[in-house]
Amino acid sequence: MTNTPEKKLHPRTQAVHHGTRRSQYGEMAEAIFLTQGFVYDSAEQAEARFQGSGPDEFIYARYGNPTSRMFEDRIAALEGTEDAFATASGMAAVNGALFSMLKPGDRVVAARALFGSCLYVLDLLAKFGVDVAYVDGTDLDQWRDAVRPGTTAVFFESVSNPTLEVIDMRAVADLAHAVGATVVVDNVFATPVFSRAVEMGADVVVYSATKHIDGGGRALAGVICGTRQFVREVAEPYLKHTGGAISPFHSWLMLNGLTTMDLRVRAQADAADAIARALQGHEALSRVIYPGLAEHPQHELAMSQMGSGGTMIAVELAGGKDAAFAALDRLRIFKISNNLGDAKSIVTHPATTTHQRLPEDQRAHLGITPGLLRLSIGLEDAQDLIDDLKTAFA
Ligand SMILES: Cc1ncc(COP(=O)(O)O)c(C=O)c1O
Repeated sequence: MTNTPEKKLHPRTQAVHHGTRRSQYGEMAEAIFLTQGFVYDSAEQAEARFQGSGPDEFIYARYGNPTSRMFEDRIAALEGTEDAFATASGMAAVNGALFSMLKPGDRVVAARALFGSCLYVLDLLAKFGVDVAYVDGTDLDQWRDAVRPGTTAVFFESVSNPTLEVIDMRAVADLAHAVGATVVVDNVFATPVFSRAVEMGADVVVYSATKHIDGGGRALAGVICGTRQFVREVAEPYLKHTGGAISPFHSWLMLNGLTTMDLRVRAQADAADAIARALQGHEALSRVIYPGLAEHPQHELAMSQMGSGGTMIAVELAGGKDAAFAALDRLRIFKISNNLGDAKSIVTHPATTTHQRLPEDQRAHLGITPGLLRLSIGLEDAQDLIDDLKTAFA
């Protein structure tokens, strides 16, 4: 039974309650329906369900599950979309959204600054006959030239990984919609808390829920948010037949993550802001990149689109790779890893890890230099983190 409040509630309230389905036992916490299948009362009921199942009727966990449906309903309410489909990982969501909507001969225009695995998916689409064009995401003239009639979709990270470029979602969406293209936004860095991508014109929003939604670095998960028609008639058939389903246990973890996401992400962004300011002008650093700083090239856009600089910072060590590696090895609180959005602060060297696959000239073009470090700010005390960084950079 669905316990969905009728009045439109504040996202913090929705994040705690929305979409909760209680069984006949009236459990307080969301139940984990750890079952691959469902029992039918009769042969006729089984036949009817395979002909078309309602929102509270399930067939097989690869198709849907009550715990996963709670997660889908909750994130869709927060995102402001009609529906959502939960996936096994963020990449299953990116792959599912793009592959389910595209066919040979279609054209996709994408921002060049993308997570390495997203670039892999676009390469794969090109191999299957999709025309893939890349633009510098912050250059609207390039979007204007590339998004021509016949374009099926545009795809970009609203805040790019790892150099934190902020894309003007409304402007790109207007160009895309003028030629009938679907706007697909990877909103991971911007977070569901700060980025109202749908209000800015996104048609489909994908998340790696592994990041801020989980918030504890515990499990992989993803989600595709969009219209009911897109989610249930385009994305779901592709995902349920190709095996991108989330596990019910991971959906339960994500439901729990959502209940505290707003508090966590705001605290992490406050700390990120304080840390970026404290690092400004540090003699070991040639760049401090944080959208909340006035000197960030898209600072005003970031403030109007997100109202915050977010939870991520990038810094460039003037001494290049040697200095970056030395700093990595001296950090005590920041952990060297490659997740983000975690309660634990994480430091990543993109050029040798997450973006290693990119050719050197492309890395240079994107500003992913040998001295660049990506910082994901966690929930520790901001001053402790500042001290850790300053000691490491000294
Ligand atoms: C921007 C972005 N999109 C997608 C993904 C993929 O997410 P997952 O690791 O959950 O598959 C990541 C992971 O780091 C990411 O940073």
